[in-house]
Amino acid sequence: MKLLRKVRHPNGIRSIYCCGVKIWSYDSRNRARPFRRLKQRVFIYDDNGEREIFYYYQLPDNIDIVGSGRNNTVRIHRGLRARNVCLRFDKRTADNLCVLDDSGDCDGLDVFIVFQAGHGNTIKIGQRTVINGAKIWLGNGSHLRIGDDCMLSYEIMIRTTDGHAIMDNATGAIINHQKNPCIIGNHCWLGLRTIVNKNAQIPDNTIVASGTVLTGRFRDEHTIIAGNPGRVIKSGLSFSDKSIFELEC
Ligand SMILES: CC(C)(COP(=O)(O)OP(=O)(O)OC[C@H]1O[C@@H](n2cnc3c(N)ncnc32)[C@H](O)[C@@H]1OP(=O)(O)O)[C@@H](O)C(=O)NCCC(=O)NCCS
Repeated sequence: MKLLRKVRHPNGIRSIYCCGVKIWSYDSRNRARPFRRLKQRVFIYDDNGEREIFYYYQLPDNIDIVGSGRNNTVRIHRGLRARNVCLRFDKRTADNLCVLDDSGDCDGLDVFIVFQAGHGNTIKIGQRTVINGAKIWLGNGSHLRIGDDCMLSYEIMIRTTDGHAIMDNATGAIINHQKNPCIIGNHCWLGLRTIVNKNAQIPDNTIVASGTVLTGRFRDEHTIIAGNPGRVIKSGLSFSDKSIFELEC
């Protein structure tokens, strides 16, 4: 049975939450709100080009876009398998870009992406990447790229910005801006409860052990990174998207 719950937003927009997942937003006259009026641009694309969509009800299943930021662009590949994708644009954000690529035959995405504050944040998630459960916060003009063919496990947390400022007492200057974009290379495996902090970069073919806190830049491929802060604990390794059981039978 579908559980429907009506709520009233502070800005007067009514939403119906269905099973706590799908959010359809309506204006005060009960009309589905066009993206245009919220100043968001949403495109569906494939190899033959792209088509802009204007209304929430034209979104593919299981993708929700909520919030009130301005001038944000979302590009969704027609082949994206969205198990549960929610993008939230907070009021103080603008000019952000989110690109979600083709999932091919893989399981696709279960991810909650928050554009928290500031302008010009970007996130790109590559082809055939699986995310089993991640929450991603972007803010203050920061960037995140998750490559092709990656496997992200459950309860992953990614923050491209610290959020709160840390100041130098002598100069008053803010010292904790994102200095480098966060990059997860192609064909990386992030274990359960990995935390990715600002500036973290891992190359292609990296394995990240469960509970690792990733900070800074790693250069060598085919390693396992583990611990807090993450350090290389093994190298010269590869992983398979098949289970041990499948490979041994
Ligand atoms: C990354 C992983 C696969 C590596 O397994 P492995 O190669 O068999 O590693 P080992 O168990 O031999 O451990 C090697 C060393 O790393 C340490 N280590 C292993 N996992 C660690 C972790 N998560 N954090 C910190 N250290 C870890 C071990 O204590 C060991 O240290 P030691 O040599 O001092 O004894 C495994 O640690 C892991 O994280 N598994 C969880 C994967 C997961 O999240 N799966 C969900 C799929 S959806």
